[in-house]
Amino acid sequence: MNFQGQHLLSARTLSKEAIERILEVAKEMEPYAQKEEASDLLKGKVLATLFFEPSTRTRFSFETAMLRLGGSVISNYTMNESSSIKKRESLYDTGKTVSQFADVIAMRHPVEGAVKELAEGSEVPVLNGGDGGANHPTQGLLDIYTIHKKFGHFGGLTYGLVGDMKNSRVAHSQCRLIKNFGPAEARPKFICVAPQGLELPEDLKKELTDSGCEIRETTDLEEVIGGFDVLSNTRIQEERFENAEAFEKYRGVYSITPKLLEGAKEEMIILDPLPRVDDQLKVAVDDDPRAKYFEQIGNGVAVRMALLALVLGKI
Ligand code: NCD
Repeated sequence: MNFQGQHLLSARTLSKEAIERILEVAKEMEPYAQKEEASDLLKGKVLATLFFEPSTRTRFSFETAMLRLGGSVISNYTMNESSSIKKRESLYDTGKTVSQFADVIAMRHPVEGAVKELAEGSEVPVLNGGDGGANHPTQGLLDIYTIHKKFGHFGGLTYGLVGDMKNSRVAHSQCRLIKNFGPAEARPKFICVAPQGLELPEDLKKELTDSGCEIRETTDLEEVIGGFDVLSNTRIQEERFENAEAFEKYRGVYSITPKLLEGAKEEMIILDPLPRVDDQLKVAVDDDPRAKYFEQIGNGVAVRMALLALVLGKI
């Protein structure tokens, strides 16, 4: 698979081989991501980060990845208010324009398909940092990288996906990335724990079962947590609800607590893309050796370094 010049818009477009290659390169990037060694692999290259939606981890980790590989960054994180989008410039023209300055673009937008629209105008690779509730491929990759670091494989594991299965672009990307791993008789198994009304979309369920994965759905976390190898927690995606009232009935529906974790396997790992709100993940869990969500953030730098180096043809 040749990554050079390619956009990364969705986990859907990545083959198993492409995913394996990204994970392999991310491993090579670890010394630079871990601040142990300096690199000038991307010296002279410019990353533009175009954010139309709030971000802490995704934008900083893309920018850190570029800077630690010797490249430079131009950034606008209030695109709706302070770029020519405000003057009604199209996403297509914005992509055309920014690609005259930058060698690669990372972008986030609240509307599904918006990143693709900008990519159509761009003459340089565009990496999707999240569009609507649909896609967040780079987050999915860093999540599965964290899983791979622990278990060394994906097949045969039981993934407990907890939270807003309807709107979580992170959960959707994770499933799409791991669904084809493992021998046919030991595909990943997904236990989706979501409140009524926030279940995994039907088309995604079909994608997973078509790949040979088993799916179980429940609302009761306590009952199933003992079977998880990976607990992948996600926030109820407040900003995707029609109004505050619609969200309120789900606020705080699940909470990962030390007590709840007493019923989980000792070898399980806990992932969460964060931010954490409404007690979705108690601070007291941070001391649990199974908690990997801060390590997960650091892994994001290695994975994004790999993606930048690959699409820029430097590796
Ligand atoms: C996630 C996102 O933006 O989708 N955060 C992230 O990228 N680390 C998850 C979330 O906001 O709940």
